Amino acid sequence: MSALAPLIAERIRERGPITIAEYMAICLGHATHGYYMKQVPFGREGDFTTAPEISQVFGELIGLHLADVWLRAGAPNPVQLVELGPGRGTLMADILRATKGVPGFHAALSVTFVEMSPVLRAEQKARVPHARWADRLADIPSGQPLLLVANEFFDALPARQLIKTARGWQERHVALEDERFIPVVPEDAPLLDALVPAALQGAPEGSFYELLGGEEDAAVLNQRLSQDGGAALIIDYGHAKHSLGDTLQAMRQHAYADPFTAPGDADLTVHVDFEQIIERAGKALRVLGPVGQGRFLRALGLDIRTAVLAKANPPKAEALVVASRRLADSEQMGALFKVLSLSSPAWPAPAGLDS
Ligand SMILES: C[S@@+](CC[C@H](N)C(=O)[O-])C[C@H]1O[C@@H](n2cnc3c(N)ncnc32)[C@H](O)[C@@H]1O
Repeated sequence: MSALAPLIAERIRERGPITIAEYMAICLGHATHGYYMKQVPFGREGDFTTAPEISQVFGELIGLHLADVWLRAGAPNPVQLVELGPGRGTLMADILRATKGVPGFHAALSVTFVEMSPVLRAEQKARVPHARWADRLADIPSGQPLLLVANEFFDALPARQLIKTARGWQERHVALEDERFIPVVPEDAPLLDALVPAALQGAPEGSFYELLGGEEDAAVLNQRLSQDGGAALIIDYGHAKHSLGDTLQAMRQHAYADPFTAPGDADLTVHVDFEQIIERAGKALRVLGPVGQGRFLRALGLDIRTAVLAKANPPKAEALVVASRRLADSEQMGALFKVLSLSSPAWPAPAGLDS
Protein backbone atom coordinates (compact mmCIF):
# COMPACT_ATOMS: atom_id res chain seq x y z
CA MET A 1 0.00 0.00 0.00
CA SER A 2 1.31 3.50 -0.78
CA ALA A 3 1.89 6.05 1.99
CA LEU A 4 -0.88 8.21 0.58
CA ALA A 5 -3.57 5.51 0.39
CA PRO A 6 -4.61 5.63 4.10
CA LEU A 7 -4.82 9.44 4.00
CA ILE A 8 -7.09 9.40 0.94
CA ALA A 9 -9.16 6.57 2.45
CA GLU A 10 -9.67 8.57 5.64
CA ARG A 11 -10.78 11.60 3.68
CA ILE A 12 -13.32 9.57 1.69
CA ARG A 13 -14.63 7.91 4.88
CA GLU A 14 -15.10 11.33 6.49
CA ARG A 15 -16.52 13.32 3.57
CA GLY A 16 -17.61 10.83 0.92
CA PRO A 17 -16.23 10.23 -2.60
CA ILE A 18 -13.80 12.80 -4.00
CA THR A 19 -13.69 14.02 -7.60
CA ILE A 20 -11.04 12.78 -10.03
CA ALA A 21 -9.53 16.29 -9.95
CA GLU A 22 -9.24 16.16 -6.15
CA TYR A 23 -7.77 12.67 -6.38
CA MET A 24 -5.17 13.80 -8.97
CA ALA A 25 -4.32 16.89 -6.92
CA ILE A 26 -3.60 14.78 -3.81
CA CYS A 27 -1.73 12.04 -5.70
CA LEU A 28 0.56 14.50 -7.48
CA GLY A 29 0.80 17.42 -5.09
CA HIS A 30 0.33 16.19 -1.49
CA ALA A 31 2.97 18.09 0.51
CA THR A 32 4.91 15.03 1.66
CA HIS A 33 3.70 11.96 -0.23
CA GLY A 34 2.63 13.54 -3.56
CA TYR A 35 4.21 11.97 -6.64
CA TYR A 36 6.08 15.13 -7.72
CA MET A 37 6.83 16.27 -4.17
CA LYS A 38 8.98 13.39 -3.02
CA GLN A 39 11.15 12.32 -5.94
CA VAL A 40 12.63 13.01 -9.36
CA PRO A 41 10.34 10.95 -11.56
CA PHE A 42 12.12 11.28 -14.93
CA GLY A 43 14.73 9.32 -16.78
CA ARG A 44 15.73 5.69 -17.09
CA GLU A 45 15.54 5.07 -13.34
CA GLY A 46 12.24 6.92 -13.08
CA ASP A 47 8.76 6.34 -14.45
CA PHE A 48 8.82 8.21 -17.74
CA THR A 49 11.00 10.34 -20.04
CA THR A 50 10.16 13.74 -21.49
CA ALA A 51 11.34 15.41 -24.70
CA PRO A 52 14.07 17.59 -23.12
CA GLU A 53 15.50 14.47 -21.47
CA ILE A 54 15.58 12.66 -24.83
CA SER A 55 17.64 15.19 -26.75
CA GLN A 56 19.32 18.54 -26.16
CA VAL A 57 18.12 19.59 -29.62
CA PHE A 58 14.54 19.95 -28.32
CA GLY A 59 15.50 22.77 -25.93
CA GLU A 60 17.98 24.31 -28.35
CA LEU A 61 15.33 24.74 -31.06
CA ILE A 62 12.81 26.13 -28.58
CA GLY A 63 15.45 28.58 -27.39
CA LEU A 64 16.04 29.78 -30.95
CA HIS A 65 12.28 30.02 -31.54
CA LEU A 66 11.90 32.28 -28.48
CA ALA A 67 14.99 34.39 -29.20
CA ASP A 68 13.88 34.82 -32.82
CA VAL A 69 10.45 36.20 -31.93
CA TRP A 70 12.03 38.42 -29.25
CA LEU A 71 14.51 39.87 -31.78
CA ARG A 72 11.78 40.49 -34.37
CA ALA A 73 9.64 42.17 -31.66
CA GLY A 74 12.42 44.77 -31.34
CA ALA A 75 14.48 43.04 -28.62
CA PRO A 76 12.53 44.50 -25.65
CA ASN A 77 14.59 44.88 -22.49
CA PRO A 78 13.71 43.72 -19.85
CA VAL A 79 11.84 40.53 -20.74
CA GLN A 80 10.70 37.67 -18.52
CA LEU A 81 11.41 34.08 -19.51
CA VAL A 82 9.03 31.80 -17.60
CA GLU A 83 8.73 28.03 -17.63
CA LEU A 84 5.73 26.22 -16.15
CA GLY A 85 6.53 22.83 -14.59
CA PRO A 86 10.25 22.69 -15.49
CA GLY A 87 11.00 19.17 -14.21
CA ARG A 88 14.77 18.83 -13.86
CA GLY A 89 15.46 22.21 -15.52
CA THR A 90 16.95 20.53 -18.58
CA LEU A 91 14.80 22.38 -21.12
CA MET A 92 15.71 25.79 -19.70
CA ALA A 93 19.41 24.91 -19.50
CA ASP A 94 19.31 23.95 -23.20
CA ILE A 95 17.35 27.11 -24.10
CA LEU A 96 19.93 29.27 -22.34
CA ARG A 97 22.95 27.49 -23.80
CA ALA A 98 21.55 27.74 -27.34
CA THR A 99 20.79 31.46 -27.06
CA LYS A 100 24.05 32.62 -25.46
CA GLY A 101 25.19 34.17 -28.71
CA VAL A 102 21.97 36.11 -29.42
CA PRO A 103 23.02 39.75 -28.97
CA GLY A 104 21.41 41.32 -25.89
CA PHE A 105 19.08 38.40 -25.12
CA HIS A 106 20.64 37.17 -21.90
CA ALA A 107 21.27 40.70 -20.68
CA ALA A 108 17.55 41.45 -21.10
CA LEU A 109 16.01 38.37 -19.54
CA SER A 110 15.22 37.12 -16.09
CA VAL A 111 14.28 33.46 -15.70
CA THR A 112 11.42 32.34 -13.45
CA PHE A 113 10.29 28.77 -12.86
CA VAL A 114 6.75 27.97 -11.74
CA GLU A 115 7.24 24.79 -9.77
CA MET A 116 5.44 23.25 -6.81
CA SER A 117 7.94 20.53 -5.92
CA PRO A 118 10.84 21.33 -3.57
CA VAL A 119 12.72 18.27 -4.82
CA LEU A 120 12.45 19.42 -8.43
CA ARG A 121 13.26 23.02 -7.48
CA ALA A 122 16.61 21.75 -6.17
CA GLU A 123 17.24 19.95 -9.49
CA GLN A 124 16.37 23.12 -11.39
CA LYS A 125 18.70 25.21 -9.22
CA ALA A 126 21.56 22.84 -10.02
CA ARG A 127 21.07 23.48 -13.76
CA VAL A 128 19.94 27.12 -13.76
CA PRO A 129 21.37 28.68 -10.58
CA HIS A 130 20.33 32.28 -11.29
CA ALA A 131 16.61 31.47 -11.78
CA ARG A 132 13.79 32.66 -9.50
CA TRP A 133 10.87 30.52 -8.45
CA ALA A 134 7.14 31.12 -8.09
CA ASP A 135 4.32 28.87 -6.88
CA ARG A 136 1.89 30.19 -9.49
CA LEU A 137 2.09 32.18 -12.71
CA ALA A 138 -0.11 34.80 -11.01
CA ASP A 139 2.67 35.43 -8.45
CA ILE A 140 5.10 36.68 -11.14
CA PRO A 141 4.94 40.48 -11.35
CA SER A 142 3.38 41.93 -14.49
CA GLY A 143 4.70 44.89 -16.48
CA GLN A 144 7.36 43.20 -18.66
CA PRO A 145 6.92 41.26 -21.91
CA LEU A 146 6.66 37.55 -21.33
CA LEU A 147 8.27 34.60 -23.08
CA LEU A 148 6.75 31.42 -21.68
CA VAL A 149 7.23 27.72 -22.28
CA ALA A 150 5.35 24.77 -20.80
CA ASN A 151 6.28 21.21 -21.77
CA GLU A 152 4.09 18.45 -20.33
CA PHE A 153 2.66 20.81 -17.70
CA PHE A 154 -1.05 20.94 -18.54
CA ASP A 155 -1.38 17.14 -18.71
CA ALA A 156 -0.22 16.96 -15.08
CA LEU A 157 -2.83 19.38 -13.74
CA PRO A 158 -5.86 17.96 -11.94
CA ALA A 159 -8.58 17.35 -14.54
CA ARG A 160 -12.30 16.70 -14.07
CA GLN A 161 -13.92 13.73 -15.75
CA LEU A 162 -17.58 13.90 -16.74
CA ILE A 163 -19.53 10.80 -17.75
CA LYS A 164 -22.77 10.66 -19.70
CA THR A 165 -25.25 8.78 -17.52
CA ALA A 166 -28.96 8.07 -17.96
CA ARG A 167 -29.56 11.38 -16.15
CA GLY A 168 -27.11 13.55 -18.14
CA TRP A 169 -23.44 14.54 -17.70
CA GLN A 170 -22.23 13.86 -14.17
CA GLU A 171 -18.82 13.98 -12.52
CA ARG A 172 -16.73 10.88 -11.94
CA HIS A 173 -15.54 10.45 -8.35
CA VAL A 174 -13.29 8.09 -6.43
CA ALA A 175 -14.90 5.98 -3.69
CA LEU A 176 -13.65 3.37 -1.26
CA GLU A 177 -14.84 -0.23 -1.48
CA ASP A 178 -13.28 -3.00 0.63
CA GLU A 179 -10.27 -0.73 1.24
CA ARG A 180 -9.75 -0.31 -2.52
CA PHE A 181 -10.24 2.87 -4.52
CA ILE A 182 -12.79 2.61 -7.29
CA PRO A 183 -14.17 5.16 -9.77
CA VAL A 184 -17.89 5.85 -9.32
CA VAL A 185 -20.54 8.35 -10.37
CA PRO A 186 -22.61 9.17 -7.27
CA GLU A 187 -26.31 9.15 -8.17
CA ASP A 188 -26.80 12.55 -6.62
CA ALA A 189 -23.80 14.12 -8.45
CA PRO A 190 -25.04 17.38 -10.02
CA LEU A 191 -25.90 17.55 -13.71
CA LEU A 192 -23.12 19.35 -15.55
CA ASP A 193 -24.39 19.35 -19.14
CA ALA A 194 -23.53 23.03 -19.46
CA LEU A 195 -19.81 22.20 -19.19
CA VAL A 196 -19.86 19.92 -22.24
CA PRO A 197 -19.53 21.42 -25.77
CA ALA A 198 -22.89 21.42 -27.58
CA ALA A 199 -21.62 19.11 -30.34
CA LEU A 200 -20.74 16.40 -27.81
CA GLN A 201 -23.72 16.64 -25.47
CA GLY A 202 -25.73 13.97 -27.32
CA ALA A 203 -22.94 11.37 -26.94
CA PRO A 204 -24.03 7.85 -25.92
CA GLU A 205 -24.29 6.81 -22.30
CA GLY A 206 -20.92 5.85 -20.83
CA SER A 207 -19.03 8.51 -22.86
CA PHE A 208 -16.34 10.54 -21.09
CA TYR A 209 -15.58 14.24 -21.48
CA GLU A 210 -12.60 15.70 -19.62
CA LEU A 211 -12.10 19.24 -18.38
CA LEU A 212 -8.48 20.30 -18.21
CA GLY A 213 -7.06 22.00 -15.10
CA GLY A 214 -5.12 25.26 -15.20
CA GLU A 215 -7.96 27.77 -15.70
CA GLU A 216 -6.16 30.32 -13.55
CA ASP A 217 -2.88 29.95 -15.46
CA ALA A 218 -4.73 30.35 -18.75
CA ALA A 219 -6.48 33.52 -17.52
CA VAL A 220 -3.23 35.04 -16.25
CA LEU A 221 -1.35 34.11 -19.43
CA ASN A 222 -4.10 35.65 -21.50
CA GLN A 223 -4.05 38.88 -19.54
CA ARG A 224 -0.23 39.19 -19.42
CA LEU A 225 0.32 38.53 -23.12
CA SER A 226 -2.41 41.02 -24.07
CA GLN A 227 -1.22 43.68 -21.65
CA ASP A 228 2.59 43.29 -21.64
CA GLY A 229 3.26 41.58 -25.01
CA GLY A 230 5.08 38.33 -25.55
CA ALA A 231 4.69 34.76 -26.75
CA ALA A 232 3.98 31.40 -25.15
CA LEU A 233 4.67 27.89 -26.35
CA ILE A 234 2.56 25.07 -24.92
CA ILE A 235 3.71 21.55 -25.75
CA ASP A 236 1.88 18.45 -24.63
CA TYR A 237 0.28 15.25 -25.78
CA GLY A 238 -3.36 15.33 -26.60
CA HIS A 239 -5.97 16.21 -29.19
CA ALA A 240 -6.39 19.35 -31.27
CA LYS A 241 -10.20 19.39 -30.94
CA HIS A 242 -12.67 18.60 -28.17
CA SER A 243 -13.16 14.87 -28.04
CA LEU A 244 -14.67 12.10 -25.98
CA GLY A 245 -12.75 9.46 -24.06
CA ASP A 246 -11.20 8.41 -20.78
CA THR A 247 -7.53 9.41 -21.04
CA LEU A 248 -6.65 9.31 -17.34
CA GLN A 249 -3.49 7.26 -17.20
CA ALA A 250 -0.90 6.20 -14.65
CA MET A 251 2.74 5.51 -15.53
CA ARG A 252 5.08 3.59 -13.30
CA GLN A 253 8.53 2.41 -14.32
CA HIS A 254 7.83 3.16 -17.98
CA ALA A 255 4.66 1.01 -18.03
CA TYR A 256 0.96 1.81 -17.76
CA ALA A 257 -0.52 1.18 -14.32
CA ASP A 258 -3.98 1.33 -12.73
CA PRO A 259 -4.59 5.00 -11.73
CA PHE A 260 -6.49 3.86 -8.62
CA THR A 261 -3.78 1.59 -7.20
CA ALA A 262 -0.82 2.94 -5.22
CA PRO A 263 -1.85 6.64 -5.26
CA GLY A 264 1.19 8.92 -5.10
CA ASP A 265 3.55 6.25 -6.45
CA ALA A 266 2.67 6.62 -10.14
CA ASP A 267 2.46 9.60 -12.47
CA LEU A 268 -1.13 10.54 -13.34
CA THR A 269 -2.01 12.49 -16.46
CA VAL A 270 -4.77 13.18 -18.94
CA HIS A 271 -4.46 14.03 -22.61
CA VAL A 272 -4.61 17.75 -23.23
CA ASP A 273 -7.62 19.16 -25.06
CA PHE A 274 -5.91 22.00 -26.96
CA GLU A 275 -9.26 23.44 -28.00
CA GLN A 276 -10.02 24.10 -24.33
CA ILE A 277 -6.73 26.02 -23.97
CA ILE A 278 -7.52 28.02 -27.12
CA GLU A 279 -11.03 28.82 -25.89
CA ARG A 280 -9.63 29.96 -22.56
CA ALA A 281 -7.14 32.17 -24.39
CA GLY A 282 -10.08 34.23 -25.59
CA LYS A 283 -10.11 36.38 -28.70
CA ALA A 284 -7.38 38.83 -27.72
CA LEU A 285 -4.38 36.63 -28.60
CA ARG A 286 -2.84 35.30 -31.79
CA VAL A 287 -3.28 31.53 -31.81
CA LEU A 288 -1.03 29.37 -34.03
CA GLY A 289 -1.40 25.60 -34.07
CA PRO A 290 -1.54 23.21 -32.50
CA VAL A 291 0.79 21.52 -34.95
CA GLY A 292 2.48 18.16 -34.46
CA GLN A 293 5.72 18.35 -32.50
CA GLY A 294 7.52 16.66 -35.40
CA ARG A 295 6.41 19.27 -37.89
CA PHE A 296 7.32 22.10 -35.52
CA LEU A 297 10.81 20.78 -34.73
CA ARG A 298 11.57 19.98 -38.36
CA ALA A 299 10.42 23.45 -39.44
CA LEU A 300 12.89 24.90 -36.96
CA GLY A 301 15.80 22.82 -38.29
CA LEU A 302 15.80 19.58 -36.26
CA ASP A 303 17.47 17.55 -38.99
CA ILE A 304 20.21 20.09 -39.72
CA ARG A 305 21.03 20.59 -36.04
CA THR A 306 21.10 16.81 -35.48
CA ALA A 307 23.45 16.35 -38.45
CA VAL A 308 25.80 19.08 -37.16
CA LEU A 309 25.94 17.49 -33.70
CA ALA A 310 26.38 14.00 -35.14
CA LYS A 311 29.28 15.15 -37.33
CA ALA A 312 30.97 16.80 -34.36
CA ASN A 313 30.59 13.69 -32.22
CA PRO A 314 30.76 10.52 -34.35
CA PRO A 315 30.50 8.00 -31.46
CA LYS A 316 27.16 9.57 -30.52
CA ALA A 317 25.92 10.11 -34.07
CA GLU A 318 23.53 7.17 -34.15
CA ALA A 319 22.05 7.93 -30.72
CA LEU A 320 21.48 11.56 -31.75
CA VAL A 321 19.64 10.52 -34.90
CA VAL A 322 17.54 7.97 -32.98
CA ALA A 323 16.62 10.61 -30.38
CA SER A 324 15.58 13.14 -33.02
CA ARG A 325 13.42 10.54 -34.73
CA ARG A 326 11.82 9.69 -31.41
CA LEU A 327 10.87 13.34 -30.95
CA ALA A 328 9.64 13.93 -34.48
CA ASP A 329 8.49 10.79 -36.27
CA SER A 330 4.72 10.62 -36.37
CA GLU A 331 4.55 7.05 -35.10
CA GLN A 332 6.64 8.11 -32.09
CA MET A 333 6.18 11.53 -30.40
CA GLY A 334 5.87 13.66 -33.52
CA ALA A 335 2.08 13.64 -33.96
CA LEU A 336 0.52 12.83 -30.56
CA PHE A 337 2.63 15.60 -29.02
CA LYS A 338 1.48 18.99 -30.24
CA VAL A 339 2.72 22.56 -30.06
CA LEU A 340 0.45 25.55 -29.54
CA SER A 341 1.62 29.15 -29.72
CA LEU A 342 -0.29 31.95 -28.01
CA SER A 343 1.10 35.42 -28.53
CA SER A 344 0.33 39.08 -28.41
CA PRO A 345 -1.05 40.34 -31.73
CA ALA A 346 1.28 43.33 -31.28
CA TRP A 347 4.24 40.94 -31.64
CA PRO A 348 5.36 39.34 -34.92
CA ALA A 349 4.14 35.80 -35.59
CA PRO A 350 6.36 33.17 -33.91
CA ALA A 351 8.17 30.79 -36.30
CA GLY A 352 7.55 27.11 -37.01
CA LEU A 353 3.77 27.02 -36.73
CA ASP A 354 2.58 28.02 -40.20
CA SER A 355 -0.47 26.09 -41.20
C1 LIG B 1 5.51 15.91 -16.43
S1 LIG B 1 6.53 16.98 -15.58
C2 LIG B 1 7.26 17.86 -16.94
C3 LIG B 1 8.65 18.33 -16.63
C4 LIG B 1 9.39 19.09 -17.71
N1 LIG B 1 8.61 20.16 -18.28
C5 LIG B 1 9.92 18.16 -18.78
O1 LIG B 1 9.44 18.28 -19.90
O2 LIG B 1 10.79 17.36 -18.49
C6 LIG B 1 5.44 18.12 -14.81
C7 LIG B 1 6.12 19.26 -14.08
O3 LIG B 1 5.12 20.18 -13.62
C8 LIG B 1 5.26 20.39 -12.21
N2 LIG B 1 3.90 20.65 -11.71
C9 LIG B 1 2.84 19.82 -11.77
N3 LIG B 1 1.75 20.43 -11.26
C10 LIG B 1 2.13 21.66 -10.90
C11 LIG B 1 1.46 22.77 -10.32
N4 LIG B 1 0.16 22.71 -10.02
N5 LIG B 1 2.15 23.90 -10.08
C12 LIG B 1 3.47 23.97 -10.38
N6 LIG B 1 4.17 22.95 -10.92
C13 LIG B 1 3.52 21.81 -11.17
C14 LIG B 1 5.89 19.10 -11.73
O4 LIG B 1 6.46 19.20 -10.46
C15 LIG B 1 6.91 18.86 -12.85
O5 LIG B 1 8.02 19.72 -12.72
